[in-house]
Amino acid sequence: MDEIKKHQYSVLLCFFFILSHFCLQFKPVSAQTSAVFACDTATNPSLKSFPFCDVSLGVSARVKDLVKRLTLQEKITMLVNTAGNVSRLGIPKYEWWSEALHGISYTGPGVKFNNIVPHATSFPQPILTSASFNETLFETIGKVVSTEGRAMYNVGQAGLTYWSPNVNIYRDPRWGRGQETAGEDPTLSSKYGVAYVKGLQQRDDGKKDMLKVASCCKHYTAYDIDDWKGIQRYNFNAKVTQQDLDDTFNPPFKSCVLDGNVASVMCSYNQVNGKPTCGDYDLLAGVIRGQWKLNGYIVTDCDSLNEMYWAQHYTKTPEETAALSLNAGLDLNCGSWLGKYTQGAVNQGLVNESVIDRAVSNNFATLMRLGFFDGNPKNQIYGNLGPKDVCTEDHQELAREAARQGIVLLKNTAGSLPLSPKSIKSLAVIGPNANLAYTMVGSYEGSPCKYTTPLDGLGASVSTVYQQGCDIACATAQVDNAKKVAAAADAVVLVMGSDQTIERESKDRFNITLPGQQSLLVTEVASVSKGPVILVIMSGGGMDVKFAVDNPKVTSILWVGFPGEAGGAALADVVFGYFNPSKFPLSICSLIIA
Ligand SMILES: *[C@@H]1O[C@H](CO)[C@@H](O)[C@H](O)[C@H]1NC(C)=O
Ligand SMILES: *[C@@H]1O[C@H](CO)[C@@H](O)[C@H](O)[C@H]1NC(C)=O
Ligand SMILES: *[C@@H]1O[C@H](CO)[C@@H](O)[C@H](O)[C@H]1NC(C)=O
Ligand SMILES: *[C@@H]1O[C@H](CO)[C@@H](O)[C@H](O)[C@H]1NC(C)=O
Repeated sequence: MDEIKKHQYSVLLCFFFILSHFCLQFKPVSAQTSAVFACDTATNPSLKSFPFCDVSLGVSARVKDLVKRLTLQEKITMLVNTAGNVSRLGIPKYEWWSEALHGISYTGPGVKFNNIVPHATSFPQPILTSASFNETLFETIGKVVSTEGRAMYNVGQAGLTYWSPNVNIYRDPRWGRGQETAGEDPTLSSKYGVAYVKGLQQRDDGKKDMLKVASCCKHYTAYDIDDWKGIQRYNFNAKVTQQDLDDTFNPPFKSCVLDGNVASVMCSYNQVNGKPTCGDYDLLAGVIRGQWKLNGYIVTDCDSLNEMYWAQHYTKTPEETAALSLNAGLDLNCGSWLGKYTQGAVNQGLVNESVIDRAVSNNFATLMRLGFFDGNPKNQIYGNLGPKDVCTEDHQELAREAARQGIVLLKNTAGSLPLSPKSIKSLAVIGPNANLAYTMVGSYEGSPCKYTTPLDGLGASVSTVYQQGCDIACATAQVDNAKKVAAAADAVVLVMGSDQTIERESKDRFNITLPGQQSLLVTEVASVSKGPVILVIMSGGGMDVKFAVDNPKVTSILWVGFPGEAGGAALADVVFGYFNPSKFPLSICSLIIA
């Protein structure tokens, strides 16, 4: 039934899309070009009389004043990601859902790329960045991303609340979302989460309770399955011992809250030990708010409440679902469920208004800490940021640096890497990922400043000959053409691996072998090559490369993750020895299955 509703919705959306495009051709509507904010006292001096607009008061006093002025109906509109406006109080609509996993992303409705800011810097997927083990790097990336986020907010193209990072533990290598995470190790994931959160949130003026942008650690908890043989994240029940929760799945969330002072935690779709996380009092009110003392808001994953009702049949009525989550400690709903069913839940006596007050207070407090209620952001600390501060040379160089630091050398035979650009007269570049730009940025991508593919990057130093060999699924490899160019070249670089058709959100793998005939292509090409053969695996998840480890004709193996916009340039830096890569970090030892 849910699926049918979703379908109708997309038909409607599609209709709207066609209609709006049609209209646009005749009457251009002006896009939002300035920041959305409350308490615009310059335009509306009467707002000055409201204590919640008074910057000299503390956050909690201002929140208290604001909440007491709202009707229940108005409060209910503040429980969902597309929050309502209250015009009589100078409060505009606010979209809570923006994403910035590895750069400002268009995945959430809060971010829009247009001709004012058409691009943003695209860093590697976190699985590669985390392989650097460099906390300074994690925080520096966060800082650049929040600068670009603020710059885009100032021209009306992004929000202030980002639902990143993903700190789930990547325990099962077949999980399609492993690419978004810092890997399988709770310590590294915690360090990654804390540093990235600090980079996003910490202000340059040192005001500790104020936020540059608000970060969110997701998805709490024990979530590492999307769609595997009929089991979906929407109906999955993770059976986890308390010890495993404490030792494995929860440490990154705990560190985010305690050490990172993160402004938000998102609960997941799945159940933990038979209870949906977004409706579990012990997990939310008990642990996040009670033990860890979150200063911020708890948000659902998008449509978690729909899934609790439709996929899990956990509650008898929609109103019960709304009440269960609010009473469990939830503050904000990505989706529209709480907007629709909270009034009914109150009428039925399932939830008290005081609980709704708590929820909206946590949400408003976060916006206050972002300066949203402090009048025009032009007059605030980040008011000068704008389009000129996005995709700067420094930011793009950091994207290349991050990829370089993350790339891992898995095998190197004496005399193989680094290649000397002087002695290579011709380099054969082969493989489905050798010349694809889009694959490099992975999921939760934005619109990158520019792309440098492996072929572009390598070609900047030496003369190259390119053969694709096959597409990523590699049902039938064009072995003969690939062998011909390989046999004539001084060295060969094969860029293989996966893309979002192989591993992604809503798609897990069934095994970790290279897709289709990719390994055959590698083996055949290696057999005729006269010089070094460098196998490059571009993937989020680990790949079984034992066939290549054991083959002496494959002289080097590199893993490059999904390396972001500058991935090809970073690969060239490593291949030609301009940068010395790290070797075999334990966190990705699953790449080699003995
Ligand atoms: C929200 O804004 C619209 C458009 O300006 C207005 O018609 C509506 O009354 C506002 N809603 C509230 C609750 O203020
Ligand atoms: C960590 O990253 C920073 C920022 O890119 C860099 O300056 C530093 O050299 C790196 N540290 C190590 C040990 O590589
Ligand atoms: C609402 O508050 C009253 C008074 O504190 C309490 O007795 C009642 O149990 C509450 N209802 C719910 C559903 O929590
Ligand atoms: C691995 O899984 C893919 C589908 O995800 C399948 O096409 C392929 O045959 C499997 N390979 C092996 C070796 O089982």
